[in-house]
Amino acid sequence: MKEYTPISEFKNHVGEEVTVAGWCYSKRSSKKLYFINVRDGSGICQVVAFLPALGEEIGKICESLDQETSIIVKGKVKKDDRQIGGYELEMSHIEVVGESKDYPITPKEHGVAYLMEHRHLWLRSKRQHAIMRVRHNIVKAIRDFFNDRGFINVDAPILTANAAEGTSNLFETDYFDDKAYLSQSGQLYMEAAAMAHGKVYCFGPTFRAEKSKTRRHLTEFWMVEPEVAYMSLDEDMELAEQFVEYVVQTVVANCEEELKTLERDTEKLKAVKAPFPRVSYDEAVEILKIKKQEYAQSDDEEKRKMSEDILKNGPGDDLGAADETVIGSMHDRPVMIHRYPAAVKAFYMREDPKQPGRALAFDMIAPEGYGEIVGASEREADISVLERKIVEHNLSLDAFKWYLDLRKYGSVPHSGFGLGVERTVSWLCGLTHVRETIAFPRMMDKIWP
Ligand code: 4AD
Ligand code: MG
Repeated sequence: MKEYTPISEFKNHVGEEVTVAGWCYSKRSSKKLYFINVRDGSGICQVVAFLPALGEEIGKICESLDQETSIIVKGKVKKDDRQIGGYELEMSHIEVVGESKDYPITPKEHGVAYLMEHRHLWLRSKRQHAIMRVRHNIVKAIRDFFNDRGFINVDAPILTANAAEGTSNLFETDYFDDKAYLSQSGQLYMEAAAMAHGKVYCFGPTFRAEKSKTRRHLTEFWMVEPEVAYMSLDEDMELAEQFVEYVVQTVVANCEEELKTLERDTEKLKAVKAPFPRVSYDEAVEILKIKKQEYAQSDDEEKRKMSEDILKNGPGDDLGAADETVIGSMHDRPVMIHRYPAAVKAFYMREDPKQPGRALAFDMIAPEGYGEIVGASEREADISVLERKIVEHNLSLDAFKWYLDLRKYGSVPHSGFGLGVERTVSWLCGLTHVRETIAFPRMMDKIWP
């Protein structure tokens, strides 16, 4: 595997002759010279071809190069701070591997719909390349955080027999002569695994048949779900804030180049340090009432419009996207809103014994208007309460028989959370829509390519 030198390794090869295998990103010529920007996945560098020294044959090849023609280039690495990546390659030889006539994505501006149609090619573009690398680093940081802290990775099934997060957005599929559903969350399975290992997490794709076309919803998204036996809601909040701080600071430290390409203001990300503010649902509603009035009287038309969306569901109901944006933008780091009304939350959440009607749950809201990134709770550990909740939520007791067993045999207090990877990528990269955060996004109106 030493045959080709990655462009990212040029710093170790100054003055040496190397071979680069990649694609022509762009080119220009001036009389005796060709300047070819080559990308190889690891980076981009400028290749300079001095034609009088290279001969006619090489000249013809340079002339023939199109955007995305695949090429193998030989040359000497020169340090040159003025060039992209800080190095330049003095060409001694070039060979075409595959031609690329009429590449559909040109340097001119294309609409997002067009680019989405060409997602399989769009991935090669500079911004998309940077986003996928940030995502890779986020995924790695997520695994490292839990692996380094004694958590065991347990994989949850994707085909399931019951709903975990409500029945309104389930993907149904035939399962021989039965019905099965694509998993909305691995949580219930992690509860079983936590009783076996203490601290566990699953990390995989989850599915929601969301009919909403928002910039935060995908139908297939990746979620990491830690679950810990004998852990309270307060400890869950501490775990979540340490985790998010770690992921953000690791990305800031490791993705300097990528974040620069994305023109992300990293000062905002550097501020993401634990502890994060905690706001109860009741406090949040009081703040929102005041903000609603304040915005309604603002000179700023956008704020007046937003005022109508604040507490749209009414106090006592779940918070909406506008509410999250308002609360989220009051702080320079994520906020944890806790103790939502139990009625608007999932059946498995434990009610606060000190505040009946309130769930021992929290949502973590990202700053800068990125909305909810984490959903969390302490789980109901009492079998009779849980049975009542399952019935109240119109779920089948039969389907949850195995889950109820966990409360029969050595039930303990336990808590966990789920972090959505795409929303995290969107926030850290400063994107306006989650569709660019995953290589092949799945949305209500998108399943191709
Ligand atoms: O709040 P949610 O629905 O929580 C759960 O699924 C729990 N079972 C997690 C747990 O306690 N183990 O989803 C968790 C997170 C959200 O905060 C959000 O980041 C992401 O998953 N998410 C989505 N991301 C993209 N598209 C969607 N349709 C999403 N729905 C949830
Ligand atoms: Mg949620």
